[in-house]
Amino acid sequence: MLVLGVESSCDETGAALVDDAGRVHADVVHSQVHVHAPYGGVVPELASRDHLRNIEPVLRAALSEARVDLAQVDGIAVTNRPGLVGALLVGVQAAKGLAWAAGKPLVGVDHLMGHVLAAFLRRGDADAAVPCFPFVCLLASGGHTAIYRVDAPRVDALRELGATRDDAAGEAFDKVAKLLGLGYPGGPVVDRLAATGNASRVKLSAPMASSDSPEMSFSGIKTQVSRLVGQGQARTEADTADVCAAFQAAVTAVLARKTIAAAVREGVDDVVLGGGVAANRELRRRVLDLAAPRGIRVAIPPLASCTDNAAMIAYAGAMRLSRGERDGWDLVATSRTALERTTRKGGGRR
Ligand code: KG4
Ligand code: ZN
Repeated sequence: MLVLGVESSCDETGAALVDDAGRVHADVVHSQVHVHAPYGGVVPELASRDHLRNIEPVLRAALSEARVDLAQVDGIAVTNRPGLVGALLVGVQAAKGLAWAAGKPLVGVDHLMGHVLAAFLRRGDADAAVPCFPFVCLLASGGHTAIYRVDAPRVDALRELGATRDDAAGEAFDKVAKLLGLGYPGGPVVDRLAATGNASRVKLSAPMASSDSPEMSFSGIKTQVSRLVGQGQARTEADTADVCAAFQAAVTAVLARKTIAAAVREGVDDVVLGGGVAANRELRRRVLDLAAPRGIRVAIPPLASCTDNAAMIAYAGAMRLSRGERDGWDLVATSRTALERTTRKGGGRR
């Protein structure tokens, strides 16, 4: 089964062709980073307009890269939640138009489900380990940070064990980078600078770090960094690198420890990372270091599968299509996820 995936939930326009074994036949991503960089974050109206400009060329490029035409595709999967509604609508309308014109089945995909299943994508690395169900997944992106237990590739077979009570981990990287004058998006540049810094020269504490709870909080550490900047502790490049190193160490230690603790508690042997923050080298290292002595296998997707892409949407869609699921022309775009949420923003379980 070959599925065309379409993604436009935030600031990446994507189209991809993926089969139900996870093999990526084409994966085209047009990034809008340059559009939003001057504003230090994603501007929703600009995102919608840029998706409109790029959706057709991106779709054409993906079909041409996979050397197929629409008639050879078995179904179309599109991100319809969560995200910026104006941005989502561009992909949803394009997917509906194509599905209607070519007479193909259509399924909506929850973007978060795409991140959770991204570890199943095969990009020419046929030997890479495939995670086994059930697994514990740490999903850490710019908009969401949660730890899930996943029993099957279905939204209703996924349980949120804990999530952030406030900012997402990626959001914290972006805000800290902005405070330090490092530009947007913050994750990659903080990752790079942290490698040259000395974390022990800066005192930062991650909230809820010692607690056994899989719930997290990342807004307090951003406030601590803001205070350091106000005190002039990040004036030189070397000082800035030290702050990056301390911030990254605190955040990745919490993410890694809570993820592995959740896997131990759930009695599962597999841990999966997903979302843009899974691209972070220190996070990857910490998770691997904690997992190895406990006999836990870790699946970390390659960079292109961690950040937003349509291949993960196509694969999540292939799982729905292969179960015979279909959506109608009344499929709507919505800002909220369909995944179970137990952690309340602001704190406490639902
Ligand atoms: O999954 P993603 O591409 O988009 C969302 O669905 O949000 O994640 C983007 C987020 C941004 O906050 C970005 O700063 C962060 O992932 N990110 C990183 C790294 N690369 C991207 N965070 C830490 N370290 C990285 N190397
Ligand atoms: Zn994402």
